[in-house]
Order: sequence, then C-alpha cells, then structure tokens
Amino acid sequence: MKYKGFKASGYTELVLNVNGDKHQVLIKPSAVLLHTLREQVGLTGAKGGCENGDCGACTVLIDGNPMKSCMMLAIEVGEKEITTIEGLKDTEIQEAFVNFSGFQCGYCTSGFLLNAHALLQTHPNASEEEKKDWLDANLCRCTGYEGIRDAVNHAQEMTLEKNKD
Ligand code: FES
Ligand code: FES
Repeated sequence: MKYKGFKASGYTELVLNVNGDKHQVLIKPSAVLLHTLREQVGLTGAKGGCENGDCGACTVLIDGNPMKSCMMLAIEVGEKEITTIEGLKDTEIQEAFVNFSGFQCGYCTSGFLLNAHALLQTHPNASEEEKKDWLDANLCRCTGYEGIRDAVNHAQEMTLEKNKD
C-alpha cells in the first residue's frame, strides 16, 4: 500500500506493523508513537493520560514487551511488531477483566490489559510480589485495584491451565 497524501518537506514515510497489519503513515520525525497510533493509524485504544511516563494508560507491546507509547517516537519502532488493545482479542486477561470487574470508567484498562498480558506470557508463574511490582507501572483512579488483582490472578490460573495442554 502506498501513501497517497501530500508529502510535505520535513515529513517522513514510515510503515508500522500493528496487530499483524502494515500501516503506512506520514509523520514528522518528532511524532510520538501514542499520537501516531491514535491519529494516523486510527487505533484509539491506547489512551493519553499523564503523557510523561507515569500512568501507563498509553501502554502498548513492542515485540511483546510493554512500552509506554507516550514516551517513544514512532520512528524508534522501525519494523518491530506493535500490539495494541485492538489486537488483544480472545485472551485470558481480557475475559478475566470482564468477569472480575477489573474496570470501571475503563480509561486505564487497555494499559493494564497489555501490561498484564505481557507479564503472564513472560512470567506465567509470577508471585504475588512480582505481579504487584510489574503492575506498579499502571495507575487506576477508580477500582481500588481489587478487581484488577482478582482478574490478573484468574487470568494467571487460566494461562497455567492452558499451558498444561
Ligand atoms: S500517558 Fe503514557 S504513561 Fe501516562
Ligand atoms: S477504571 Fe477508571 S481509571 Fe481505572
């Protein structure tokens, strides 16, 4: 797919691999990944909160690793695979957040889901302490964290059960 828009000076073309699809975008070299995903790719699941690395609402996965997309330039990503919440369908963590009321307003939810998904993929036997430390990267203003904790614990049980098969 070729970008058909006007290429003004100072802009650069870039192909981003997002959720298994290629997206050609035209951006300034200073474009932040969060804004590029939302405004150019059209995926609005990653949210802008603090935009200084504190809240985790903007979390996406880059080659499976959770990253705060407000703190990255789009051009830093290169050909690496980006996963946003739109690409996290039918996962244990998604089901658990729904069943255990892991959200209220939902603003923080995509960041929590992606970060917790990465945790369960890379550390399926994580202890309570490890889960707490890992999820300290995300803030929630609504839930008091109890539903989130229960959801992550349940998703961990489901993931371990699935890995036995
Ligand atoms: S918006 Fe990126 S960490 Fe808060
Ligand atoms: S559910 Fe509202 S900020 Fe977390």
